[in-house]
Amino acid sequence: MDRTFVMIKPDGVARGLTGAIISRLEKKGLKLVAARLVCVTETQVMDQYREHAGKPFFPSLKSYVMSGPCMPMVWEGRNAVAVVRHLIGATNPAEAAPGTIRGDLGLDTGRNLVHASDSPESAAREIGIHFTEKDLVEYRRVEEPVLYEWTE
Ligand code: RTP
Ligand code: MG
Repeated sequence: MDRTFVMIKPDGVARGLTGAIISRLEKKGLKLVAARLVCVTETQVMDQYREHAGKPFFPSLKSYVMSGPCMPMVWEGRNAVAVVRHLIGATNPAEAAPGTIRGDLGLDTGRNLVHASDSPESAAREIGIHFTEKDLVEYRRVEEPVLYEWTE
């Protein structure tokens, strides 16, 4: 099964939206395999967003992500990376499609609630920034036998 890294940003936690965001991913059929409520370190933020280092918005992105507790998570499911990117919607919540997390719950690019990996390679790297292999749990969701037409 594919895995992706998702992180509810401080505005999502502070607005009491962790349950709503997790619920959307759960209802899609994705499986939560790791989660934690933490204040991320500067090193973790620099590493997670290293492709943006040096861009004009990077200092504000860094202080935003470090402004309060976040909820880093790992989700599992077929094509999990692409599926979650569709579910969270465009970077700017004002332009994100209705029905997406950002489209339904946010207004501002600088307060867009949630991060999700943009490729399987990024997912593997970002999971490693926040979790060890031992943090990832194994269990069956009861609907697994009916969720997919075929199993791998
Ligand atoms: P993320 O990495 O957080 O999942 O977001 P994303 O892929 O949709 O967008 P990305 O281009 O990777 O940007 C990372 C985060 O930086 C902030 N940002 N601000 N003011 C700006 O122009 C600007 N552009 C990006 C957002 O918080 C964005 O999610
Ligand atoms: Mg990104």
